[in-house]
Amino acid sequence: MELIDKLNWRYAAKAMNGKKVPEEKIERILEAARLAPTSSGLQPFEIIVIKNQEIKEQIKPVAWNQSVITDCSHLLVFAAWDTYTVDRINYMFDLTNDIRGFKNEGWENYRQMLLNAYPQKDAEENFNHAAKQAYIAFSQAIVAAAFEGVDATPIEGFDPAAVDKILGLREKGLRSAVLLPIGYRKADEDWLVDLVKVRKPMEDLVTVIE
Ligand SMILES: Cc1cc2nc3c(=O)[nH]c(=O)nc-3n(C[C@H](O)[C@H](O)[C@H](O)COP(=O)(O)O)c2cc1C
Repeated sequence: MELIDKLNWRYAAKAMNGKKVPEEKIERILEAARLAPTSSGLQPFEIIVIKNQEIKEQIKPVAWNQSVITDCSHLLVFAAWDTYTVDRINYMFDLTNDIRGFKNEGWENYRQMLLNAYPQKDAEENFNHAAKQAYIAFSQAIVAAAFEGVDATPIEGFDPAAVDKILGLREKGLRSAVLLPIGYRKADEDWLVDLVKVRKPMEDLVTVIE
């Protein structure tokens, strides 16, 4: 199947059947998220993979009781940095230098520019910027899941403060941004499965400037 066919196959499943997704598929979905581009390459988020059924049961009531939270195989929580700090910025720049094996003046100047700009900003503004980056990885995970023939339901319908508490995220300097249950559709119980996908026409989406 071509990528576009797979994107037409995917939909935000409203019911899942509890069947387990093979770990190698989950690993590839996570790898796609890891490979996502982010602003300045900072990857300012972590992904919590919840296999534990009791934790899923705790999250369900604070996620509008959506059944996919407990009927999925793996529940991914995209948790963004609560702010940018000097250490967090340095970590990614040092990692780049370590992996590439050299230091570059332009890159070091860029590091200083970020160090002089980001940590001083309001934490909420920084979190919102970090959460946007998490959404890029989230989107790549959705596409990768479709590629693997696995369902993934994007979920913003939850109480982030409550999820943060259940997972102890604030203590780790993280805040939940968005959830992604991964599993298999329960077609016979899903009102959405056979409905035609609705997207606005290309001409209402795209403006070409020649
Ligand atoms: C960021 C985001 C948050 C969403 N939150 C929910 C949600 O909480 N519950 C749900 O059932 N669907 C949720 N959706 C699914 C959208 O309603 C769905 O993607 C959209 O209607 C397009 O339909 P399709 O994904 O089935 O093609 C969310 C989608 C996105 C991208």
